[in-house]
Amino acid sequence: MNHLASTYQIKNLHLKNRIVMPPMCQYSVTAKDGIPNDWHFVHYVSRAIGGTGLIIMEMTDIEPDGRISDYDLGLWSNDQIPAFRRIIDEVHKYGTKIGIQIAHAGRKAEDAEIPVSSTYIAANKHYKQPRALTTEEVKQKVIQFKEAAIRAVEAGVDTIEIHGAHGYLIHQFHSPAINQRNDKYGLDLALFGTEVIQAIKSVIPPDMPLLMRISAVEYMDGGYDLEHSIALCRRYSEAGVDMFHISSGGEGPSPKVKPRNYPGYQVPYARSIKEALHVPVIAVGMLDDPTLAEATLANGNADLVAIGRAMLRDPYWALHALQGEERKSLIPKPYERGFMY
Ligand SMILES: Cc1cc2nc3c(=O)[nH]c(=O)nc-3n(C[C@H](O)[C@H](O)[C@H](O)COP(=O)(O)O)c2cc1C
Repeated sequence: MNHLASTYQIKNLHLKNRIVMPPMCQYSVTAKDGIPNDWHFVHYVSRAIGGTGLIIMEMTDIEPDGRISDYDLGLWSNDQIPAFRRIIDEVHKYGTKIGIQIAHAGRKAEDAEIPVSSTYIAANKHYKQPRALTTEEVKQKVIQFKEAAIRAVEAGVDTIEIHGAHGYLIHQFHSPAINQRNDKYGLDLALFGTEVIQAIKSVIPPDMPLLMRISAVEYMDGGYDLEHSIALCRRYSEAGVDMFHISSGGEGPSPKVKPRNYPGYQVPYARSIKEALHVPVIAVGMLDDPTLAEATLANGNADLVAIGRAMLRDPYWALHALQGEERKSLIPKPYERGFMY
């Protein structure tokens, strides 16, 4: 597992291994007012104790109605900063780096009275009908993304990931099937995302890498393909994104034929974007088997691998994936006896 175990550096972010915990909302543990609670503390610190190289904290929203549910995390107020700082400081004690995914759910904000979007069309029949943001309001959202990033830096994050995937607000702007606007944010589908990137870039330290999550393809009928997402990533890379986290789908309407997922199903997308743009990428999607995660790196398909649901089952996924000398330095001292027979 020497690729999984190897160190990695991008700008000033130094990782002890290539294993990433991707953002995963913890909805049902009822964060109040967007503030992480003891569950979130234990949840993230456990994965740090478990040897993870980089944790990306879950979708954290720029305003209350940007949350999927009212139980999600947010960074729209300075009052939210200390609880994030408590998690970040503790995670750092185990040599794990930690970032945060900054987002707005747009028309997928389930508890918003009237969600907002690029469009007035609902994601599907299970979602509320949104209100299309005015041009001026879109600019306001860019500022809210920037302010959330300032708070994230204040809380001590090592990196920020912009959520541009899974049918949330930025995706609702750069999807040709969803965004039918005729203002400048409709004529240039990448403009909103680009402005968010530039705004965040202007307030984070110059040596802090900026990550962005993208759906490489949409699954709805008439959805965009890899060619479109490569064009988007090119724009976003020029605007300042240092690394892409390659996911897919989530845009809302179900296709007539839904593709099945299988181990490594999104890896070819990660490779294609990496090859087309010569940018570093994180691959994600059923990479639970350490041999597959290792091969994804060894074959040059990705620079880092993210392990989602498997890490929900096993907070010590990294300690279990690595063996022998590769694992030795990751084992917290109080647990050393547990790994000696
Ligand atoms: C409980 C849960 C919550 C999730 N929340 C987020 C999220 O906040 N942001 C995001 O981009 N993806 C989210 N995802 C998607 C994961 O980050 C990951 O891309 C997906 O689970 C596929 O990886 P896996 O097969 O390793 O689980 C979530 C997934 C799960 C299972």
